[in-house]
Amino acid sequence: MRKPFVAGNWKMNTDSHTGVSLAEGVACGSMDIAGRSVDVAVIPPFVYLQAVVRALNRSHIAVGAQDIYYEQKGAFTGEVSASMLKDVGCIYVLCGHSERRHVIGESDELVNKKINAAICSGVLPIFCVGEKLEEREASLTKEVVGRQVRSGLAGLDVEKASALTVAYEPVWAIGTGRTATTEQAQEVHAMIRKLLGEMYDAQLAQEIRILYGGSVKPDNAADLMRQEDIDGLLVGGASLNADDFVAIIKAAS
Ligand code: PGA
Repeated sequence: MRKPFVAGNWKMNTDSHTGVSLAEGVACGSMDIAGRSVDVAVIPPFVYLQAVVRALNRSHIAVGAQDIYYEQKGAFTGEVSASMLKDVGCIYVLCGHSERRHVIGESDELVNKKINAAICSGVLPIFCVGEKLEEREASLTKEVVGRQVRSGLAGLDVEKASALTVAYEPVWAIGTGRTATTEQAQEVHAMIRKLLGEMYDAQLAQEIRILYGGSVKPDNAADLMRQEDIDGLLVGGASLNADDFVAIIKAAS
């Protein structure tokens, strides 16, 4: 009912040559399934977006950006707007990735503005949430993730919210090799879906895709995907290797 979705977040990696060949490798390896039994996106650094869009021209793989600024244009040196992303062929944009929240210092309010701006320009947000290790250890996971979801979606009506993909990425599992257990992930996914049902309605909660992210690898992808409320995967490190990423796409399809 919810079509699986796998997105590869390249973060600040690749160059103009390796980015294009990575995209081509993923397109080639997933040719039979991408866009059919699984939606696939790659999320390169801003400067390589156009080259990757061009390289994926004949594939069914979408391209996303790693961040966005909420204003449409003007004196915002260094920032990139939703309409610019759309202009170069981006379908998706990450909003509130943990590295933006915890390394760069983005607040829930800023994430909310970015989500709203993306949707208003027709770019689909992948809205990331997740607790830090000390928050999990203090049994605050539900509270923290619940707050992130409520604040991130503040003021968004059901129509706008239906453009969303949510990604649950426990901060302690990102880039650490330490994946949440399938039970830990499923529990938070179910909680997010229930909360979306309360904030919006049962239909939206049933239709919205909730991805898991945090040290997803070819050997844990299938187990994660078997969980009822895990609809796809947001992959960092393993998306930088075409064979590994294709194996994950296949596990999800
Ligand atoms: P990781 O990153 O797969 O390298 O843990 C996931 C992410 O940050 O989206």
